[in-house]
Amino acid sequence: MAESFTVTPWEVTGDIDYEELQRRFGTTPIDDALLRRLGGYGDLHMMLRRGIFYSHRDMNTLLDEYDKGSRFVLYTGRGPSGSTHLGHIMPWILNKWLQDVFDVPMYFQMTDDEKFLFKDLTLGETRSMAYDNALDFIALGFDPEKTKIILDTENIKTLYPIALKVSKKVNFSTARAVFGFENSTNIGSIFFTAVQSAPAFLATELQGRQVPCLIPCGIDQDPHFRVSRDVAPGLGYPKPSMLYCKMFPGLGGGDKMSSSDPNATIFTTDTPKKVKSKIGRAFTGGRVSVDEQRKLGGNPEVCAVFKYNFYMFEKDDRKVEEMSDRCRRGEILCGECKAALTEKINVFLEGHQAKREEAKEIIGSMAFEGFEW
Ligand code: TRP
Repeated sequence: MAESFTVTPWEVTGDIDYEELQRRFGTTPIDDALLRRLGGYGDLHMMLRRGIFYSHRDMNTLLDEYDKGSRFVLYTGRGPSGSTHLGHIMPWILNKWLQDVFDVPMYFQMTDDEKFLFKDLTLGETRSMAYDNALDFIALGFDPEKTKIILDTENIKTLYPIALKVSKKVNFSTARAVFGFENSTNIGSIFFTAVQSAPAFLATELQGRQVPCLIPCGIDQDPHFRVSRDVAPGLGYPKPSMLYCKMFPGLGGGDKMSSSDPNATIFTTDTPKKVKSKIGRAFTGGRVSVDEQRKLGGNPEVCAVFKYNFYMFEKDDRKVEEMSDRCRRGEILCGECKAALTEKINVFLEGHQAKREEAKEIIGSMAFEGFEW
């Protein structure tokens, strides 16, 4: 039977049913008990309160260890294939919250090798995008003393022994089943998952003792980390714990913001004018006429403008609820909502773009093992 949606690390299509996806992948819902527990370490982040980060693996094990005094490392990453957009930085924002709350180190892996292998890009292109994307990551305020950026083609010497150990435990039929490889797939792609596993085990290797690892990221990355978790015990590494978020929606009403449709995507370097025009054309839950909207009300559930507030731009839960109620009652029109969101995004981007410039001063000091950018 054809599946109504597909989610893999390289492809997201169709209307994603996130409950169903969780069942397919075998991950665990973040329930109220876990939320209460996380809230005990610091004010619960809105992405957790609102179920944007909604699924996990082994979070309680990680917190049990932490309570006993065992600090974990955070690990997340980015495949540099183009400019950074809001969908990319969303999970990084929760990573930053976790670093602050738990006071832990962080590895950020830039998989320039992955994007070279999977896309029509040269190594020069993926490398310069890695630099550009890293600025956005740094701009979010990660502690420069505790955060290291790994660039695969530069740091491979350290990753390689770990990747080799992982790769020896994964046979081709597993890789094919997990990632959907075919006979025509290039052989670099088949090995790549071992490289993405490596940072999860890096602290354990470097310190020569079991260091727990937490990987907060989009749920589309689960196929990689299922493999990492499967092989970990056999290699003497702790299984990484996972925190998964939903995909950041596109402006056109789709389930995932994608660079392949630049008009439905807000890039971190967009000008205020561009943001205004993109939000102006966003898909909403509005009616065909003002009269109808006043009479029947709109539908925030399908509205990209509402989703942007919910996912990122309105931090006050009461205001989010009020926004949705007033829309349903026909008390606000799409134009007002669009103008207010444009303003919020532009305020955010102004600050972000300034910090992005400052990041150029410290990016050198954050390179893992001191490679030259
Ligand atoms: N494969 C990811 C991407 O295409 C990049 C990545 C590497 C990553 N390591 C990660 C993402 C760890 C999340 C967590 O964007």
